[in-house]
Amino acid sequence: MGAHPRVFVTRELPGGALERLEAEHDVEVWPERLPPSRDELLARAPKLEGLLSLLTDPVDAELIAAAPDLRAISNYAVGVDNVDVKAATARGIPVGNTPDVLTESTADLALALMLGIARRLGEGEAFVRAGEWTTWEPGLMLGRDLHGATVGIVGYGRIGQAVGRRLEGFGCELLTTGRSGGVPLDELLERSHFVTLHCPLTPETRGLIGEDALARMKPTAYLVNTARGPVVDTDALARALRRGEIAGAALDVTDPEPLPADNPLLDAPNLLVVPHVASATHATRGRMADIAVDNLLAGLGGRPMPHSVNAEARGRATPQAP
Ligand code: DGY
Repeated sequence: MGAHPRVFVTRELPGGALERLEAEHDVEVWPERLPPSRDELLARAPKLEGLLSLLTDPVDAELIAAAPDLRAISNYAVGVDNVDVKAATARGIPVGNTPDVLTESTADLALALMLGIARRLGEGEAFVRAGEWTTWEPGLMLGRDLHGATVGIVGYGRIGQAVGRRLEGFGCELLTTGRSGGVPLDELLERSHFVTLHCPLTPETRGLIGEDALARMKPTAYLVNTARGPVVDTDALARALRRGEIAGAALDVTDPEPLPADNPLLDAPNLLVVPHVASATHATRGRMADIAVDNLLAGLGGRPMPHSVNAEARGRATPQAP
């Protein structure tokens, strides 16, 4: 055995899934709460055969090139924007992700954010705790209804559709846009009372909701993001909130992430923000760990990963000439 084990897991995972990996492989699990640094990742690369990464770990072309024996990358997320899939595919390295199991939990949180921002839950709680609740008032903390609203769903894949199913129960009119059609984005932005983002982060969606898009939204509309932070231009959003161009924003994801406490967005009014927790339920995070381990075991064993974003890479992983 070399200085570093051949399989690196960049954080402890909930549940017992890692035990299955450890039973078959020489595994190191990064024990810290914060991600391993770039140097820590690069130090392990020369001996690495399998990597179980999180969305906080950039698995880029440089890291992949530094790992000549790498045969499987398993990302503990459905999104793989932290992984250079092209570079992995070029080497025949399968990249696994964790779809499906987090769809419903993420959709639940999107609804919670819509209700939370429109019914002013954060403000209400702060008000009560500050001792400012002195009586029942007809005009206290008026918000807007989700039931009966027109909701624009940007990205109508698994999670977007799960959000849509919930909103049907609220009697909402749905407008959707995505790879398989729907209405034009401009129309969705102009007509929606809530705009909820469920698209992956790609070169096409980076900055999709910027100054122009925000200006198209109704001044009474809310933006909800449970997709990826960089789909929204943070500065443009802060300006739009300050100018009252939209009624509010509720974010599970931000750019940058984490959002530093002195980021100007946090001073903007009508903002609800939580720390990227859409999939954070005991059951879902455990299932994600099971799938991430299944993917890595399959990739290391030369078998098709149960969930991979580059099936074309399957079984082609070959050690790179040093
Ligand atoms: C994902 O899976 O991509 C989420 O952002 C984290 O669960």
